[in-house]
Amino acid sequence: MRLNRKNFIVSSLLTLTTFISHSKALELDLDDPQSLINATSLVAYGLMDYYTGDQYGKTVGMFSPPYYWWEAGGAWGSMIDYWWFMQNDSYNDIIMQAMLHQTGENNNYIPLNQSTTEGNDDQAFWGIAAMTAAERNFTNPPKESPQWLYLAQAVFNTMALRWDDTTCGGGLRWQIFVWNTGYDYKNTVSNGALFHLAARLARYTGNTSYADWAEKVWDWMYDIHLISNGTYMFVYDGASATDNCTQLTKYQWTYNQGLLLSGSAYLYNFTGSEIWHERTKKLLNASQVFFNSTTGVMYEAACQPSLSCNTDQRSFKAYFSRFLGLTAQLVPETSDHIMRLLNISAKAAARSCSGGTDGHTCGLNWFIDGWDGYYGLGEQMSALEVMINTKALQRPAPYTSTTGGSSQGNPAAGTETNPTNLAALHITAGSRAGAGIITAIIGISIIACALWLIV
Ligand SMILES: *[C@@H]1O[C@H](CO)[C@@H](O)[C@H](O)[C@H]1NC(C)=O
Ligand SMILES: *[C@@H]1O[C@H](CO)[C@@H](O)[C@H](O)[C@H]1NC(C)=O
Ligand SMILES: *[C@@H]1O[C@H](CO)[C@@H](O)[C@H](O)[C@H]1NC(C)=O
Ligand SMILES: *[C@@H]1O[C@H](CO)[C@@H](O)[C@H](O)[C@H]1NC(C)=O
Ligand SMILES: *[C@@H]1O[C@H](CO)[C@@H](O)[C@H](O)[C@H]1NC(C)=O
Ligand SMILES: *[C@@H]1O[C@H](CO)[C@@H](O)[C@H](O)[C@H]1NC(C)=O
Ligand SMILES: *[C@@H]1O[C@H](CO)[C@@H](O)[C@H](O)[C@H]1NC(C)=O
Ligand SMILES: *[C@@H]1O[C@H](CO)[C@@H](O)[C@H](O)[C@H]1NC(C)=O
Ligand SMILES: *[C@@H]1O[C@H](CO)[C@@H](O)[C@H](O)[C@H]1NC(C)=O
Ligand SMILES: *[C@@H]1O[C@H](CO)[C@@H](O)[C@H](O)[C@H]1NC(C)=O
Ligand SMILES: *[C@@H]1O[C@H](CO)[C@@H](O)[C@H](O)[C@H]1NC(C)=O
Repeated sequence: MRLNRKNFIVSSLLTLTTFISHSKALELDLDDPQSLINATSLVAYGLMDYYTGDQYGKTVGMFSPPYYWWEAGGAWGSMIDYWWFMQNDSYNDIIMQAMLHQTGENNNYIPLNQSTTEGNDDQAFWGIAAMTAAERNFTNPPKESPQWLYLAQAVFNTMALRWDDTTCGGGLRWQIFVWNTGYDYKNTVSNGALFHLAARLARYTGNTSYADWAEKVWDWMYDIHLISNGTYMFVYDGASATDNCTQLTKYQWTYNQGLLLSGSAYLYNFTGSEIWHERTKKLLNASQVFFNSTTGVMYEAACQPSLSCNTDQRSFKAYFSRFLGLTAQLVPETSDHIMRLLNISAKAAARSCSGGTDGHTCGLNWFIDGWDGYYGLGEQMSALEVMINTKALQRPAPYTSTTGGSSQGNPAAGTETNPTNLAALHITAGSRAGAGIITAIIGISIIACALWLIV
């Protein structure tokens, strides 16, 4: 993901009043199961409208620009959720094909041809989708392909290897590769996603080493105040490694709060520890900043009011909704509170799905009782996730390896020694010169490939 913390002026800014559609919105009647089935099938269909990977000349698993590779990982996670909650398997073959096509040369979701955009957070969102597939017992890949649990472990292992003690007392950098903007930034989404994935792997496998890792990441984030220690447990965007993480960038995003909230819920569910119980409750309490104080409808507080949400940010409410649903499943005492939030927002989101040529394209702002003129993959994902997660309590909680999950893994996934495995490179200050050489080699390879194609 690129420059996610900067608020870009949204190019497709439209005058709200002119474009509010008058076509019939999706009215969600949560007491009528058929209403949710009908509405979500249209929203899911609209999401898949953006998928171009099955078209001639396009790449399987990818959505076309402006959607970066990472968001495809997010979107496949949403489609797995759609299958799981609505029990509609129409898209399962496409999901499977996409998830397996993008695993990369080393089956760790670092395809080399994404190395100009891929950061730790990007890799993590594919890993989270694979983890979801394992926990929901999604159809296992063919025997000769990497399995869901294996992929999630490979993402975790390669991320953990990049833990960087040289500045800030630890933490993951935003970027994997030194040549990408943001390499000097240590951000919450990268570290929060490592924490989150570790928590889920701990609960699924029962291996406490993952829980130890989760705790280590949490402690580091808390120590440098990415997780606030005051009355409210807020989660901030990140800190610059160039000043040893003493200056925080204080944007608050829904998905960051959600990564830590649900990660804590997994750890509480796994360990029964009072510490994770408290953290879960405090993070949920602080989540109120993302709900309109009069209507209770969810919004992306850092960019929605200023009409400045970029393409990435327009999908964040999808993950937040997903993480709220998981928390409700794993910590029963939070479920009433969370379902109230989700129900209100789901109805509002459905009413925003009244735009576009199909008459049910979803918007970004769910406050206005109609479509706000925005449209895109993120808008579809967010509306879909908030709507389907109203069913969180009617479907089983995530399975573990002993309660219904059948996916097979390998604790060493992604770390097998392989000199061509860039992914496992632990780039430290000392090896930055080496990274320059790698850049050159990749550059030359790209040119060589291009020449070869031309010839
Ligand atoms: C759902 O869609 C079907 C087929 O279009 C329609 O017959 C039915 O009335 C719809 N039900 C609800 C509750 O919207
Ligand atoms: C399942 O999804 C497909 C594709 O969107 C849709 O045509 C179909 O009506 C859905 N089935 C149900 C039962 O929702
Ligand atoms: C990128 O590489 C993967 C293999 O890791 C390949 O499947 C995919 O088609 C490539 N994508 C593009 C856009 O070339
Ligand atoms: C950088 O921050 C870490 C963690 O807060 C601290 O332990 C370390 O001493 C700091 N280093 C410098 C050079 O200030
Ligand atoms: C809480 O965080 C603030 C910085 O936001 C810091 O100054 C203060 O020392 C912290 N307090 C504790 C108890 O860690
Ligand atoms: C949230 O935290 C605030 C401050 O500690 C407290 O006053 C409030 O009662 C809490 N709300 C809930 C729902 O726990
Ligand atoms: C863990 O989640 C399951 C499934 O919702 C629930 O039955 C169980 O009570 C939870 N355990 C704890 C300690 O909250
Ligand atoms: C939310 O809606 C569901 C129906 O989808 C209903 O069963 C549940 O009681 C509602 N929960 C709350 C807290 O409103
Ligand atoms: C909350 O919702 C109301 C009613 O839609 C709206 O007027 C207000 O601007 C919203 N507040 C924020 C902070 O967006
Ligand atoms: C999980 O999938 C396996 C393999 O398809 C199947 O045998 C098993 O019954 C499934 N478990 C559950 C809980 O559905
Ligand atoms: C538990 O996980 C750790 C960290 O990935 C791994 O090194 C260890 O082999 C695993 N243990 C078992 C019994 O799988």
